[in-house]
Amino acid sequence: MTHRTKLAAGNWKMNGVWSGLSEVTSLMQAHPAPVCEVLLCPPATLLSRMSDMTVDSAIKTGGQDCHADKSGAHTGDISATMLSDAGAEYVILGHSERRADHGESDDDVRAKSRVAIENGLKVIVCVGETLGEREAANTLDIIGGQLAGSIPDIVTGENLVVAYEPIWAIGTGKIPTLGQIGEVHDFIRTTLEKRFGAGVGRSVRILYGGSVKPGNASEIFAVSNVDGALVGGAALKAEDFSPIIKALETSS
Ligand code: PGA
Repeated sequence: MTHRTKLAAGNWKMNGVWSGLSEVTSLMQAHPAPVCEVLLCPPATLLSRMSDMTVDSAIKTGGQDCHADKSGAHTGDISATMLSDAGAEYVILGHSERRADHGESDDDVRAKSRVAIENGLKVIVCVGETLGEREAANTLDIIGGQLAGSIPDIVTGENLVVAYEPIWAIGTGKIPTLGQIGEVHDFIRTTLEKRFGAGVGRSVRILYGGSVKPGNASEIFAVSNVDGALVGGAALKAEDFSPIIKALETSS
């Protein structure tokens, strides 16, 4: 069986100022040598400082988005090179909030992913269905289309992570059944294997995201092809994120 290093990724979204970095100190103290990867994606204003803080720890940092161009006249945007320069190892791309708030299409996400990988970042590409699509039994078609459109051909098993995030589960406290999570994760695995071959397809980590909490993490991590989580609200406080990391460390 292919070994995949599990990944607990926290997405701080538009939350956090300098004083909030004390949470990172707590997290480093609680997890000096985790047996999974631990990643925090803070707002861009905190990235450099968080990367400096965590440089000698097991905690990695990432961005929440980048532009599809390497540099240029794009006021307010941030490039993949800038993220790397600020210490980021990863970048989240195509999060449903970016797709909804900024009209990002699969083509945009694919272009961003390509430039991020070319600049040495690992990409966490997000896919997920709306509640309407789920109720109309279109989930796998939607996910299949997003995977085909959002992932560039240049990915490897190491630089691509896919996050399955049902839009209706993000920030709502609702999660799909474990069967529904397993169905989508198995589908994503098979789709990646068909497109990129078994070697790459089996190496890519597939995260679940959407209302992951200390109370539900263990059961989610027991589902096949769930290699970790992309966590929003529960990643803001060490006291919430830490038990999720522990649940991932002890999952089989
Ligand atoms: P949530 O967000 O954990 O707050 O539901 C998850 C995400 O958007 O990545």
